[in-house]
Amino acid sequence: MTTQRLVRRLGGLAFGGDYNPEQWDKSVWEEDDELMRRAGVNLATVGVFSWALLEPREGHFDFSWLDAHLDRLHANGIAVDLATPTASPPPWFTLAHPDALPVTADGTRLVHGSRDTYCLAAPAYRGAARRIATVLAERYGDHPAVAMWHVHNEYATLCWCEHTAAAFRVWLHARHGSLDALNEAWGTTFWSQHYTSWDQVLPPRATQWHHNPGQRLDFSRFWSDEALAAYIDQRDAIRAHSDRPVTTNLMVPGYQNLDLWAFGREVDLVAIDHYPIAPGVDAAADIAFGGDRARSFGGGRPWLLMEQGANTIYAGDRVLAKDPGEILRHSLGHIAHGSEGALFFQWRQSKAGAEMWHSAMVPHAGPDSRTFREVTELGEALTRLGEVAGSTVRAEVAVLHDSDSWWAMDVDGLPSAELDYLGALRRAHRALWDAGVTTDFARPDDDLSRYRLVLAPALFLLSDASAENLRRYVADGGTLLVQHFNGVVDARFHARLGGCPAAPLREALGIRVEEYRPLRRDERIVLSDGSHGTVWSESVRLEGAESVAAYTNGTAALTRHRHGNGRGWYLSTRLDDANYAVLIDRLLAQAGVAPDLPGLPFGVEAVTRHAPDGRRWHFVLNHTAEVVPLPEPGHDLLTGATARELPPGGCVVLRLP
Ligand code: GLA
Repeated sequence: MTTQRLVRRLGGLAFGGDYNPEQWDKSVWEEDDELMRRAGVNLATVGVFSWALLEPREGHFDFSWLDAHLDRLHANGIAVDLATPTASPPPWFTLAHPDALPVTADGTRLVHGSRDTYCLAAPAYRGAARRIATVLAERYGDHPAVAMWHVHNEYATLCWCEHTAAAFRVWLHARHGSLDALNEAWGTTFWSQHYTSWDQVLPPRATQWHHNPGQRLDFSRFWSDEALAAYIDQRDAIRAHSDRPVTTNLMVPGYQNLDLWAFGREVDLVAIDHYPIAPGVDAAADIAFGGDRARSFGGGRPWLLMEQGANTIYAGDRVLAKDPGEILRHSLGHIAHGSEGALFFQWRQSKAGAEMWHSAMVPHAGPDSRTFREVTELGEALTRLGEVAGSTVRAEVAVLHDSDSWWAMDVDGLPSAELDYLGALRRAHRALWDAGVTTDFARPDDDLSRYRLVLAPALFLLSDASAENLRRYVADGGTLLVQHFNGVVDARFHARLGGCPAAPLREALGIRVEEYRPLRRDERIVLSDGSHGTVWSESVRLEGAESVAAYTNGTAALTRHRHGNGRGWYLSTRLDDANYAVLIDRLLAQAGVAPDLPGLPFGVEAVTRHAPDGRRWHFVLNHTAEVVPLPEPGHDLLTGATARELPPGGCVVLRLP
């Protein structure tokens, strides 16, 4: 519903980016108008970092600047994604509310001078954020330029201050009910951590050695809930005055201070920022990983790529420049996986300030540049793709993905330093992507019946209910692969006693894991079928399953079990990539899952979008440097002609008959 409204409003896919005109003067604004028209921009995110301008003194607002820009953009035919500026409080806020600044785990109170200097749990911050969201919504709630609302920017900042401690205690009380229950859940009898009053309970601040794992996990859960509550505060303040969709830009793929499933339920439209962290084909796989997650967080609904880079992006210790053609191919990658458009951070590259080296649609060199030419080509391409807006992506395979497990695997002192939640999730998705198969992510307690194959690469924490859900999925005919160190702790972070994984799931797998044998850092073991394992191994006892591949001592490493109408597979080591790919291909074949477009070579991606009325389009993206013939010629929306092959780096969007 929300998406349909946005599609109707934009007349097709969204194209544009963050627009921060406060950095420029009138002559540049006039050029912006002309260049946005030339590029085909139809949506601009305005006001993300404009708090100081909109509220120059606490409680004193000045809207003349924003009034003028909204009117100007509207007159130019550009819809506005109006932001609340709460990710960057002005310096007056620090001086007025020093208690609302964030405190790091080691007790350092941060000050302004950057951005995101606030504590989400501080009443003064929450009040100030709600107030500016309210006044913006009152003034612009039905402004004709405003197509949607962009609350805050990337809820990222953590805090360990006294306000956080107080809010954490309230949250813990609600979750556990009593201090006794908290002590029991956290296992505080060990290491003499027993709490006798609530004020002794702290957020996991810097301490001597390992934190209590229950405390760490609960803090992650709490913080995500706190951030979501801060979002909901603003969303509801806006909804009271505006009927336009409200969202916030989530960070994928690696950032995990938030339960993105929970955010997916509260936003009107999932929006993500995605800056791939590797070049070439790996960037394309990363885009697919982020896109499939974004779609899944929204329950399969179309979503929106809110930010990407037009060229150089800061990627940890590396700056990745985009190669010619990647602006289009990366954008189409996101759209193939369900995005309703392609937006960038930001429209015009800053000439000064902290992000002056972050690329933009209009670079420092100006419009006479390769970047701007490619941006303009993208705008034209998206106009031609208008008919796909509102369509969705379908998958027959799911990878299970759960915030509790991710957070739980983040604690100190696990039995191997190489157990890596995100790595395991990415590998499973990548193996499916390499096989040409479109993948959903799902939660372990979701109804999985629509999937032919489900992979559980890293469900370290598994509740009783989820374990039973997975058993039932297999019994009802599904194929399930569970990988090592799964179902090891329950929802309280207590070890499962009597063997792993959690009991009802063991039934579906026909095995019981007795012991772990983490491998040494460079150890690489050979299994009986010639495949190789690293990182981890286990003593697996067969309780009905057959051994498909064994360790050198003859015990099972990979098993298969028929349970009800389905099959449960268990893999107790980390296979090398090539061996893992062979296993995934075998499972896909057994489950009867085919690629979206069979017959394409490695590095050529094909994803299908489906309209509710039955129309379909194949997005086929050539991430290789070779010319690739298409399995069948088809009508390409991008050129309006029949396509028979893909040039190196080329893309087609085929309308299916
Ligand atoms: C995020 C932020 C932007 C900008 C970019 C830089 O996506 O939302 O404000 O800082 O990162 O990559």
